[in-house]
Amino acid sequence: MIMKVSVTTLNLSDLDVDLLIIPIGKSLSGAKAAQIGGPIGEALTTAMIDFDGNQGESLLCYPDSGRARRVALIGIGDQELASRHRLREAGAAGAELSMKTKAATVALCVPDSGLEAEFAGQALVEGFMLASYAYDRYKTQSDESKKIPERLVLHASRDEKSARRGGERGRVESEATITARDLVNMSPHDKTPTQLGKIVERFGRKHGYEVSVWDQSDIEKEKMGGLLGVNRGSMNPPVLIEMTWKPTNAPNSHPLVLIGKGIVFDTGGLSLKPTKDSMDHMKADMAGAAAIIGAMEAISRLDVPLYIIGLIPATDNRPGQDAYVPGDVLTMHSGKTVEVLNTDAEGRLILADALSYAQLYRPELVIDLATLTGAQVVALGSQVGAVMTSEDSGAQKRLESILKAAEISGDLLHPLPMFSHYGDALKSDVADIKNIGNREAGSITAAKFLEHFVDYPWVHIDMAGPSFLKTPLPYRPAGGTGYGVRLLIEFIREYAFPKKK
Ligand code: BES
Ligand code: MN
Ligand code: ZN
Repeated sequence: MIMKVSVTTLNLSDLDVDLLIIPIGKSLSGAKAAQIGGPIGEALTTAMIDFDGNQGESLLCYPDSGRARRVALIGIGDQELASRHRLREAGAAGAELSMKTKAATVALCVPDSGLEAEFAGQALVEGFMLASYAYDRYKTQSDESKKIPERLVLHASRDEKSARRGGERGRVESEATITARDLVNMSPHDKTPTQLGKIVERFGRKHGYEVSVWDQSDIEKEKMGGLLGVNRGSMNPPVLIEMTWKPTNAPNSHPLVLIGKGIVFDTGGLSLKPTKDSMDHMKADMAGAAAIIGAMEAISRLDVPLYIIGLIPATDNRPGQDAYVPGDVLTMHSGKTVEVLNTDAEGRLILADALSYAQLYRPELVIDLATLTGAQVVALGSQVGAVMTSEDSGAQKRLESILKAAEISGDLLHPLPMFSHYGDALKSDVADIKNIGNREAGSITAAKFLEHFVDYPWVHIDMAGPSFLKTPLPYRPAGGTGYGVRLLIEFIREYAFPKKK
């Protein structure tokens, strides 16, 4: 998506744009209405009589003076309490009107509110850009109703510099989120593991992080029995993609490692999935990987002063002549043996190898993102991910930080417990552990499986629900959502620049 974003402090009446978007709270006084409406003309002041400013309300009008062709009022509820979330929704409502009116140039006003101009500007730009997204790679005709503006101007009446910083950040984070959406929405045929490796190499060159792609023989040399086992039914070899961002001023000598599940298509393997509402959206089973790729893009573009590694084990999961079968025992990268009792519990097998490989780095912290279990969707639905962490002394603090980042980014999360008894379900008669539990607490037993391969501070995010939508939400269209990208960036930002309490 090509959209220029700039900041202006011109008077509203001097903004020469097709559409001027003004987010306004409720209980607007007559004086305030006249102050905003005055310079743009009577028509707007009159229109405001019919406008309550409730969240979700919008009104389009045609000013009789000033230079803007159209003005849209967007309600944001109690203006003092306008949260990032509500401003993102306001930006999204503005984007809808912008597409409807086919505006080529749009101005978006940063409202006075309790939120600093930087964060308000960021949220508005995010809402606007993320709502303007449409995936058209495979469309042979362009959709005229989805025309996005060439230019977006953020109008700041206060703190111009912070608004600019926020707007720029919002643009970079939105573009990185869109990178993730595009990868999820892409046809599995166009993102085989080898192709995915090439795509990431290209992104690395473009954004300035290093990429190395391991091929099958490298993976064999590392004895990654989980990744190789899942790959056995496939026509295409697996890869392990390693992304490195190591700025010279990084204070951490041991990296923060981000790991993403890269199942480019999950048929379930021999434990085959039914098609409807199940296999039919399993191109999204690499949404964890896509989130890491998006995050690495934003990390390098924002020049984050931290040493960060991204790891993606990638393969598809298919029934094939040589496919692994229920009953097979795999020897994993860590040396542990796993009895496979369901070939559809494949994500944990490839992640386990990446997690145990990550020990090599003696990482400060590892975060993995994975569309790991259907049980996660059942538990929390399609707008909230599940977060789990091993119960050690740092657990509380890690949870607090990631939940805070979830709230700020709007990529919502809720914690699930990790009591040790949940691990009992993984006992195997023939190997060290088996790859499934019983029907109970499926997301937790999956996390307990992963914990066997971890010996460092670790956060696991199961994003099966929020990674892909069948029905759209404001600023999240149907299909890949890019969930996790902004969550990671907000987490990393606080990690790099902790706010003093
Ligand atoms: N990729 C799926 C999980 C999933 C389900 C993601 C729905 C997104 C939406 C995963 O590989 C899987 O198949 N998990 C199984 C595990 C089970 C066999 C223990 C599941 O959740 O059914
Ligand atoms: Mn599966
Ligand atoms: Zn899967």
